Amino acid sequence: MAMGPIGVFDSGFGGLSVLQKLTEILPEYDFCYLGDNARAPYGTRSFSTVYKYTKEAVLWLFSKKCHLVVIACNTASAKALRSIQQNDLPLVAPEKRVLGVIRPLTEIAGYISRNGHVGLLATSGTVRSSSYSIEIQKFSPGIHLTQEACPIWVPLVEYMEVDNSGVEYFVQQHLKKLFSKDPEIDTLILGCTHYPFLLPVIKRNVPDNVQIVSQGSIVADSLKNYLSRHPEIEQNCTKNGKREFYTTESPEVFDSPASFFFGSEVRAQQVVIS
Ligand code: DGL
Repeated sequence: MAMGPIGVFDSGFGGLSVLQKLTEILPEYDFCYLGDNARAPYGTRSFSTVYKYTKEAVLWLFSKKCHLVVIACNTASAKALRSIQQNDLPLVAPEKRVLGVIRPLTEIAGYISRNGHVGLLATSGTVRSSSYSIEIQKFSPGIHLTQEACPIWVPLVEYMEVDNSGVEYFVQQHLKKLFSKDPEIDTLILGCTHYPFLLPVIKRNVPDNVQIVSQGSIVADSLKNYLSRHPEIEQNCTKNGKREFYTTESPEVFDSPASFFFGSEVRAQQVVIS
């Protein structure tokens, strides 16, 4: 069986913030990134649409010889991952693996919180799916999770509006709502790939005792651990430190914001995946 890179998928740019941490922690591995920018955002789309789009993306990454695909998008992890793992993989590629970004956070949230009051900021799709609360209850049944959907935050970050008075207004609006639902929150999960870019503004607007948990490094540590426990998958991953970028949009639209999200220059190729 031909070896290949680790596939990383997101609806658009956000997964590049996760990829940045993956390449930092696993620099020797090859990575193939796919952003479905032409059909983003996913956050407000139905279950069936997100599932259809995500499945197409995963199959496309398999065609690029990826044996392991990380769905670096909370919305797609929430709405499509389980169906792909349980229904599609056994039929189309039983030897391949698809992982998401929600589980690594929900495994540790209960240990991070001191008082058991955890807040989640995410897209409307992720909040409506209840995936975080279902997963957290599996690992830490006593946790009290309060959710707040922040639909405006993704477009703000995509337009690279991350720290000014307009952004502060929209960040404050959602944080106020979240903390009015549960003033005792001591741990805040940023459950969307875009939100770490708003971290300075978020920090300014939450009490000092609140710990803020971003996804990138937690997902990267969890993947490193996964590879060490699954040599049958790891041995099919190529290790030349190569990074390839693909988007369903045009590179003129993708490359500049993508470089901002990834933290270094990105040059992508356009692909059709449907
Ligand atoms: N990447 C998505 C997430 O993490 C947000 C962007 C979108 O709505 O497509 O949930």
